[in-house]
Amino acid sequence: MNPGSGGRTQQSPAPGRNGFLVVDGASKAFEIDGRRIRVFENLRFTVSRGEFLCITGRSGCGKTTLLNMVAGFLAPDSGMLTLDGEPILRPGPDRCVVFQQDALFPWLTVRENIAFGLKVRGWEAGRIRETVDRYLDIIGLGDFQNHLPREISGGMKQRVSLARVLVLEPRVLLVDEPFASLDARTRTEMQDLLASLWAETNCTVLFVTHDIEEAVAMADRVLVLEPSPPHVCLDVAISLERPRDREASGFTGFRRLLQETLRQD
Ligand SMILES: Nc1ncnc2c1ncn2[C@@H]1O[C@H](COP(=O)(O)OP(=O)(O)OP(=O)(O)O)[C@@H](O)[C@H]1O
Ligand SMILES: [Mg+2]
Repeated sequence: MNPGSGGRTQQSPAPGRNGFLVVDGASKAFEIDGRRIRVFENLRFTVSRGEFLCITGRSGCGKTTLLNMVAGFLAPDSGMLTLDGEPILRPGPDRCVVFQQDALFPWLTVRENIAFGLKVRGWEAGRIRETVDRYLDIIGLGDFQNHLPREISGGMKQRVSLARVLVLEPRVLLVDEPFASLDARTRTEMQDLLASLWAETNCTVLFVTHDIEEAVAMADRVLVLEPSPPHVCLDVAISLERPRDREASGFTGFRRLLQETLRQD
């Protein structure tokens, strides 16, 4: 993998055309203190193979619940989710999650954290070393490879969190507001890093964010979820070339569209 060169710099596949990931009439409710909270009602959408889908919407509209269903951590009450034609019934190695708060093992070094999943998969030591070296280089943390997570910054931790799942080459990457706690500049750097990593893989990404600019910068397509009644209130393809120019009028136009949708929400 060589981020930043070649790859998917142009438009990606048309939204939802081949139905790689299908959310087919999923409904989900939670009972809290005898009160029933409907999160989704008959939610329907499809995601193409290799698509970068951003999901946004105000707090509590069900973004994390949706990611948990795709990850197989939660089952819908009715309806179903399928991946490449197979029902999603449980978590699997084809789907990896990056959480908002980094989930690194605090007792392992940066290198050991990235290597962990490959060891579990039984890779041979030399191959693990080479692969981890490559990812340390990509995320620019070669000099920090022997540090523990508490000895590196928040932005560095998020880079390691991304590397430790991307190294596993998941078919679907599920990302829940991973950069929310970072300062503006580090955040933009992380967005660029993830975009270039994605451009070199066949990975399908579902990326939850509250940040409209982030959604327009990253996505092939954006879904806006609305809570009452629960549904997708906007499904828009971001038809801008990559890499994205944040100053371009097209970029501003999409940003405005999303802002207005969320305001009416
Ligand atoms: N395990 C649970 N038990 C009960 N209710 C839950 C559970 N998980 C989520 N909920 C409820 O479901 C709704 C959707 O929650 P969810 O975390 O998916 O929202 P979200 O869009 O990710 O919000 P945020 O933007 O704040 O992260 C909320 O009303 C929440 O209280
Ligand atoms: Mg959430």
